[in-house]
Amino acid sequence: MKKLAILASGSGSNAENLVNYFSNHPLARVELVISDRKNAFVHERMARLGVPSYYMNKEAFENGSVLTFLKEKEIDLVILAGFLKLVPKDLIRNFYNRIINIHPALLPAFGGKGMYGMHVHEAVVAAGETKTGITIHYVNENFDEGEIIAQYETALLETDTPQDVAAKIHELEMKWFPVVVEQLLRNEMPV
Ligand code: GRF
Repeated sequence: MKKLAILASGSGSNAENLVNYFSNHPLARVELVISDRKNAFVHERMARLGVPSYYMNKEAFENGSVLTFLKEKEIDLVILAGFLKLVPKDLIRNFYNRIINIHPALLPAFGGKGMYGMHVHEAVVAAGETKTGITIHYVNENFDEGEIIAQYETALLETDTPQDVAAKIHELEMKWFPVVVEQLLRNEMPV
């Protein structure tokens, strides 16, 4: 049984979806959630689902406490789902190719520092894009630059607002993120 850890800073709808997908799953389960925000809504979602969620501050990420904790819990795969901090180098080195992220656009477009949440969808609409999508990728030391694992697209209408784009992205995320995690666990991941 592979153990998954999720890092999330916000609402946690992807975290909840992953927990549900992997509950009673033969391959893996979500062991715990870590948030860098004390009041993130993800904590409430996890409390409801009975999954431990921990608040760990900036210092805990920087001084190696988070890394030690993940190792103690024998985590196999770290999943970033709406996690806004840059992952520290020691964590990346120790979990090489075992940290993945979901980004709500078709990287390398609309990625990088500051490109998160509605900022992404606003930029996509402002650029007059005819499509957008989601990217699931390995995490390296720079925001949104690790090797791409999978991308899924959705068409945009000229009339789509950033809120419309967010809804389309949400649908793709709910449908595909757990499936990609499962595929990784089944055949491709060195875990
Ligand atoms: C998602 O759109 C994800 O792609 C992005 O941040 C959002 C997180 O939403 N990285 P939630 O916290 O999972 O509801």
